Amino acid sequence: LTQVLDIIMARRSDRHFCDRPVGELAIGALVEAFRWAPSSSNRQPWRLVFACSEAASRAFDDCLSEGNRAWAAVAPVKMVLVANPGEQPDRGAVQSSVLDCGLALQNLLLQGCSMGLTIHAMAGWDDARVRAAFSIGEPLLPVALVVAGYRGAVDTLAPDVQAKDRKPRVRRPVAEIVFADRLG
Ligand SMILES: Cc1cc2nc3c(=O)[nH]c(=O)nc-3n(C[C@H](O)[C@H](O)[C@H](O)COP(=O)(O)O)c2cc1C
Repeated sequence: LTQVLDIIMARRSDRHFCDRPVGELAIGALVEAFRWAPSSSNRQPWRLVFACSEAASRAFDDCLSEGNRAWAAVAPVKMVLVANPGEQPDRGAVQSSVLDCGLALQNLLLQGCSMGLTIHAMAGWDDARVRAAFSIGEPLLPVALVVAGYRGAVDTLAPDVQAKDRKPRVRRPVAEIVFADRLG
């Protein structure tokens, strides 16, 4: 039996993709994992826009920061994760909807990893361009651009990008982030 922790540890935000297409079954499983995330009052304030057409895929690339475009443009699957704070009418609607989107995103990342996919979320993109390219108006909020695909060869990447993918994954020690009774 695969433990969830094994998948959590195996997941990496890699930047090398090959051109093997991602089939509909795999996409369906990603969407199932995404939509079955928990959310505040089960409001499910998340939307996922796939860039399917050639034009949408190019528009997606144009939204990315230069650094991200250098490796993400070749990924076969491109998605925009959108929060809807309008579905969280209580105080803290933005925080709540973005938190819920984060949970849904992590479900998608872990499901992808379990199927041998690399999925990489990005914060480096232009909000105005994303809104215009994918028809996202207020109060909806683009929260992440995400690419997915099967692993490629790391040595096909530019040297600076290769260096990022060759770095070991690191985390803060537990003592720095977990406390008893009071913070600090
Ligand atoms: C919301 C979010 C935004 C991110 N933005 C970027 C990005 O713009 N470019 C990038 O190369 N990686 C990005 N990452 C990947 C992180 O750098 C990565 O998750 C972190 O370094 C930990 O590495 P790991 O995911 O392999 O464990 C992002 C990750 C998340 C969750």
